[in-house]
Amino acid sequence: MASTLSKHDINGDWASSAPNLKKNLSLLSSEQIELPKMLLEMGQSHLFEHWPEPGVDDDEKRAFFDQVAKLNASYPGGLASYIRTARELLAESKEGKNPFDGFTPSVPSGEVLTYGDENFVQFEEAGVREGRNAAFVLVAGGLGERLGYNGIKVALPSESTTGTCFLQLYIESILALQDASCRLAEGGCKRQIPLVIMTSDDTHARTMELLESNAYFGMVPTQVTLLKQEKVACLDDNDARLAVDSHNKYRIQTKPHGHGDVHSLLYSSGLLNKWRDAGLRWVLFFQDTNGLLFKAIPAALGVSATKQYHVNSLAVPRKAKEPIGGIARLTHSDGTFICRTMVINVEYNQLDPLLRATGYADGDVNSETGFSHFPGNINQLIIELGHYIEELTKTGGAIKEFVNPKYKDSTKTAFKSSTRLECMMQDYPKTLPSSARVGFTVMDTWLAYAPVKNNPEDAAKVPKGNPYHSATSGEMAIYRANSLILRKAGVKVDDPVNQVFNGQEVEVWSRIVWKPKWALTFSEVRSKVKGSCCISQKSTMVIKGRNIFLEDLSLDGALVIDSVDDAEVIVGDSVQNKGWILESVDYKDASVPEEVRIRGFRINKIEQLEKSFNESGKFCLKP
Ligand code: UTP
Repeated sequence: MASTLSKHDINGDWASSAPNLKKNLSLLSSEQIELPKMLLEMGQSHLFEHWPEPGVDDDEKRAFFDQVAKLNASYPGGLASYIRTARELLAESKEGKNPFDGFTPSVPSGEVLTYGDENFVQFEEAGVREGRNAAFVLVAGGLGERLGYNGIKVALPSESTTGTCFLQLYIESILALQDASCRLAEGGCKRQIPLVIMTSDDTHARTMELLESNAYFGMVPTQVTLLKQEKVACLDDNDARLAVDSHNKYRIQTKPHGHGDVHSLLYSSGLLNKWRDAGLRWVLFFQDTNGLLFKAIPAALGVSATKQYHVNSLAVPRKAKEPIGGIARLTHSDGTFICRTMVINVEYNQLDPLLRATGYADGDVNSETGFSHFPGNINQLIIELGHYIEELTKTGGAIKEFVNPKYKDSTKTAFKSSTRLECMMQDYPKTLPSSARVGFTVMDTWLAYAPVKNNPEDAAKVPKGNPYHSATSGEMAIYRANSLILRKAGVKVDDPVNQVFNGQEVEVWSRIVWKPKWALTFSEVRSKVKGSCCISQKSTMVIKGRNIFLEDLSLDGALVIDSVDDAEVIVGDSVQNKGWILESVDYKDASVPEEVRIRGFRINKIEQLEKSFNESGKFCLKP
């Protein structure tokens, strides 16, 4: 039962700057009274300007204070601290201050890998060995406004040959790593690699439903934990006046705070200590729509383990000035002999001016490799658990925030629309001591990075040479990577043809897809390809079983092959049929399902050879 208000509270002199609030004070309990006091002290009296007499909309008014209480509780230091930080950051933004002013950039050290060479294979082996000591964290709370897809992004098919959605692909990849790693453990092991998914109000219920309606895609339900991030209050002006929601005048407008929330959520969940006590060593952070990521994970984890990195950022070669953050070492001297160094992602629009301001007259330029000295951050991080816990114990997981208001004009006095404070997961190393071992692992883009972020119309406008990052390019990247991997393993895969879908010109390779349990590493692929195999450009090949071997296969058409784990199947000879063909569909054609429309093609399954081996034993598929 709420306790009653004191005389001072009811009298409400402290609320005289907000007469409409003062009239409504009797609606509040004594626990709640501190909230409007704090709001008035922080210059937020406008929130009550439109409040009518007591008796009108009282439930809505109470709900307003419930919302304020929640916003206050979910931000470290409460709403007052949020408003104070916002004022500081908005003032700096108005001044045009580069957050890295005073720092000198230099090229950090890291590992640059070449797919399939001896070094790569060794790192992959080390990574698979470490796999059982890892926990995975998927940040999936984003709105996906740029993509504009009505569903949650992790439910989107990563490719349409099998229709496997991103979440299924991720879970099956983690399970394949778990199996492969446990098989290497002395005496075997039964460890289940934990998966945390950070959701938000926009994605939580649908993520849960996707998992439950698909039996967690093979994971044990207790293996998966969902942590929901809360939104933060929007700001209307440089004084950090909180924005009133345009749909409900008794609510403060809120927006996501960014994926940086993942660190404080993990910290407060208690999971990190549990993982450490269970003997885990690594936490791997990844994002919602990168269908290639797990091709890079084993080697990158191997790099972390071998080099004992506290933080390892996955990166790709980046052209100078390309609009993707660069990983740089930043050094700052405070005028004494004390230097502070950090290895951190620097946004491309900050990197070039920073270089120019610190003696590099040409700014960010390509090296003799044809790429910038500063590799492109793809925001997949591997953090060493013990060091992570030590750091979060100091910071509580708080990540340095930033604000990015869109100003109406050059006076920078008014915003086009409300803004809010944001924080990014990759800013974690900002607070680390200079002694922390922060490195990176560069892999080829074709192997590691093809996110689905842009809707077809925006993707079609991307300047030539820059990646589309659309559902079309994300799917084509999977076929290309699998084709190139098979080529490297000795299969003759035809060259791609160029086609235009949804206004985007893409390379169309043979549609080759395999389950992660067939092969997670290059060595595994190599061990499953024998003799002289060839695959034509028009072909589709889907491998679903674990022990399927390609031997002298000549494929010109569609082949779908499945088997139980203890069956061994050799697929050889010539497979020829009319196959599956890609047919263009119009993005604007509302009769076509959204998942299909946004990639601009559908697959017409004309003819295929489809075979399942459901019993243990050795088999040979020769049509
Ligand atoms: P994106 O940059 O893709 O942002 O996030 P977004 O919010 O999903 O999409 P836009 O900008 O509205 O188009 C990168 C990753 O971070 C997650 C996303 O789900 C994605 O995996 N994310 C982003 C969160 O988990 N929480 C956030 O508040 C923002």
